[in-house]
Amino acid sequence: MHEKIIILDFGSQTTQLIGRRIRELNTYCEILPYNKFPQDATGVKGVILSGSPYSVYDSEAFAVELSGLRGRYPVLGICYGAQFIAYTSGGNVQPAPSREYGRACLSSVDDVDLLRGVEPGAQVWMSHGDTITSLPRSFRIIAGTDDVPAAAYMVDGEDTYGVQFHPEVYHTECGMRILGNFLDICGCKRDWTAASFIESTVAELKGMLGDDKVILALSGGVDSSVTAVLLNRAIGENLTCIFVDHGLLRKNEFEDVMNDYRDLGLNVVGVDARAKFYEALEGIEEPERKRKIIGKGFIDVFEEEARKLKDVKWLGQGTIYPDVIESLSITGTVIKSHHNVGGLPEKMCLKLVEPLRLLFKDEVRRIGYELGMKDSLIKRHPFPGPGLGIRILGSIAPEKVRILQEADFIYISLMREFGLYDSVWQAGAILLPVRSVGVMGDERTYEHVVALRAVTSTDAMTADWAHLPYEFLAKVSNEIINKVKGVNRVVYDISSKPPSTIEWE
Ligand code: XMP
Repeated sequence: MHEKIIILDFGSQTTQLIGRRIRELNTYCEILPYNKFPQDATGVKGVILSGSPYSVYDSEAFAVELSGLRGRYPVLGICYGAQFIAYTSGGNVQPAPSREYGRACLSSVDDVDLLRGVEPGAQVWMSHGDTITSLPRSFRIIAGTDDVPAAAYMVDGEDTYGVQFHPEVYHTECGMRILGNFLDICGCKRDWTAASFIESTVAELKGMLGDDKVILALSGGVDSSVTAVLLNRAIGENLTCIFVDHGLLRKNEFEDVMNDYRDLGLNVVGVDARAKFYEALEGIEEPERKRKIIGKGFIDVFEEEARKLKDVKWLGQGTIYPDVIESLSITGTVIKSHHNVGGLPEKMCLKLVEPLRLLFKDEVRRIGYELGMKDSLIKRHPFPGPGLGIRILGSIAPEKVRILQEADFIYISLMREFGLYDSVWQAGAILLPVRSVGVMGDERTYEHVVALRAVTSTDAMTADWAHLPYEFLAKVSNEIINKVKGVNRVVYDISSKPPSTIEWE
């Protein structure tokens, strides 16, 4: 059993970030709702209380009994977490005279374990409307800024600490140092690495699955690919992967990805279902209907293949930690789930196995590298399940797919050539349902318009349009118009999300 830190989530926007930082410090952690400290606390080395959108004195503020935690584990309260510990011990918390947001500098820093290596003058990031105005007697201020006297405190005789700033955000220069110091106080060995994750997960999967058979839908994306390789390590041939060509993949994608999968030793069935999808989609223009038809078609094909296999008991899925956290979320955020085989486990009486469910995306990539997977699979841009089906605006037809595949291929190949591929979150071409007039040679043309989309993002929840160099855009436009028959105009999408979305449909 790995040692772990429990992060109790009081609803802050940065709770996930705390988790990521602790993992970056090679320590396993779990983010749980503020009132769900685990009954089985095996391996727990320390507890962090997150920030919150509430004030401690709000009637609906999230509150939890700390007596079972304080003194038993080292505890670190961050922002609301710090205010909550102070407030529930008899301290005072009040609205700050001026709201305390953004950059601040620590003017005093005590020589205590939590702040080892932190110098006065260090920049910290504040984000709170309240402030601690008095501390209980056993609490001691250990750092302050000019505006926030109790920027950090500790409790005498306990390993309990509070910081009103956010050590987890990038702009707090000494943040990693403080979190690392806290892990030292907790006595963490910091041995959570990709290799240790693989070793323990493969052993767990072996124990859980025994000789059972598992099926898994591959998408070409990093999550499902890493899931497949991990499962393959654990159960070998008892894993069957299914990769469906719905006719809406990128140019050469099916063959390339199948080859990559075979090189990895996966037992993978490739299904050419293009005709079936084109037929079902003929004449359909409405985006949500297209999505539904593609989703249903996918399930039908997958189910048909799965039924050909005997005695399958499990469905593998590439669910990752942000999905899990959202589904547990106390603030009730709607789960954003694009799982292509939703509904299937119940229908086929399959149990779910999700070996990546506790990992963040960057960790999935690291595991992928450790498993010996190639850049082309690991650094691949996200690509939606319905594929080019939602990048061909309006109705879909094989000829339009061909045009878009060619244009997209030129765009993405040049992006790699110019060394821009890894600097954007995702990119793709979109075929618009309008024609425009042009002139080629002496001929008037009346042909398709292709839009190019490229965004920067860290999680696809928000995104900015990528500021790609003009020389690159000029080259892409030229190549597409010269080489792709049926296109005479290329435009670049300069919308951010929100208010736009990444995909056009
Ligand atoms: P939007 O367009 O909502 O996209 O800004 C956010 C991210 O989700 C991907 N996306 C999808 N993925 N099925 C998927 O598997 C879908 O229906 C779907 N729609 C959007 C999109 O590519 C981006 O990464």
